[in-house]
Amino acid sequence: MDDTVSNALLTPYRRDRLDLANRIALAPMTRGRADDGTGVPSPLAPTYYRQRAGAGLLITEGVYVDPLGKAGPGIPSLRTADQVAGWRAVTEAVHEVGGTIYAQLWHVGRMTHPTTLGGELPVAPSAVRIDNAQIFTRDGLLDHVTPRALTVREIAGVVEAFAAAAENAVAAGFDGVEIHSANGYLLQQFLAENSNVRGDAYGGSLTGRLRFPVEVVEAVAGAVGADRVGLRVSPDNDENQLAEADAQETYRALVAAVAPLGLSYLHVLERGRYGAQADLRPRWDGTLIANHNGPTPNSPENGERVLAAGHADLVAFGRLFISNPDLPARLAAGVPLAPPATENVYGGGEAGYTDYPAHEGRVVTPVA
Ligand SMILES: Cc1cc2nc3c(=O)[nH]c(=O)nc-3n(C[C@H](O)[C@H](O)[C@H](O)COP(=O)(O)O)c2cc1C
Repeated sequence: MDDTVSNALLTPYRRDRLDLANRIALAPMTRGRADDGTGVPSPLAPTYYRQRAGAGLLITEGVYVDPLGKAGPGIPSLRTADQVAGWRAVTEAVHEVGGTIYAQLWHVGRMTHPTTLGGELPVAPSAVRIDNAQIFTRDGLLDHVTPRALTVREIAGVVEAFAAAAENAVAAGFDGVEIHSANGYLLQQFLAENSNVRGDAYGGSLTGRLRFPVEVVEAVAGAVGADRVGLRVSPDNDENQLAEADAQETYRALVAAVAPLGLSYLHVLERGRYGAQADLRPRWDGTLIANHNGPTPNSPENGERVLAAGHADLVAFGRLFISNPDLPARLAAGVPLAPPATENVYGGGEAGYTDYPAHEGRVVTPVA
């Protein structure tokens, strides 16, 4: 690779609490290896994250904040003392090698199944089912069920659950948290008109659709400080049968609502027709992380283009980081990248998780 290509990605970044060795972020990626019964992260997780700590910023896999917010098998949580202890081993392993790590806080809403929720129905803004699609469970792929609409009292409980998980994240040693408002999960289900058909204060109008996501952001910022809180959005993402009638209007309004808080960053996952990064960059004074979600992994060349265009300060990479744990070092050395993983992505043990070597064949020492 041409040296000039990887220059900007490899330059340090400093702003507010972020003091990062480079502008590369590990995108949040579910790997399904937590203990399914306890929600404690895998004993391999400290090694997995430390192997990738050459990224300026690490964002963990989605971590569920509420028992009904769990996506499927092997997803970790941040509610119990054991879970906090499991994550403390991860943050210590990353900090030992100078890394910075945020926990992604997640509630999946209707994107789960009673099999995963101990028989309970999934919850959502409204009782709108995902048709003609299936969801992964410990019993394999199953048809979606119709979720039940959250009551206003329950919505307040979910807001509190996000704040409590953020406090636990800080107790576990995380440098901050990222609120997951992307990819068709609960927060985006409130934002989209076709999944939120509520007639109360949490739906019905743009202000109504924004209310719950903004309350979550405010509560989490209130709990741990806005400068420890990032927000991830995927405007116009039509996955999981979401349809946002006017993504530009919705996300300009969301950004305007949370901008005064002084968040750590806005993380914009671009997909769909709306050029969200270019549109939101001038409306967001703080740090902006760009990620692209396409059929092939986001490339370093594309990351450089985004930085050169001034659309973002940092670029997040997902799939490339699975098979290239030392991605920044490889870009610095100009060595070829390993092809993306096709096996052992979700669930299992070391294979496909902690056994990808660094580019010189060095095996990164496992965390004891
Ligand atoms: C295996 C896998 C798991 C993922 N899990 C999450 C997740 O937990 N939270 C999230 O916000 N995005 C998740 N994503 C999306 C990634 O963060 C990222 O947006 C996507 O992979 C596109 O970036 P890339 O082209 O660099 O891979 C996941 C992606 C993959 C491939």
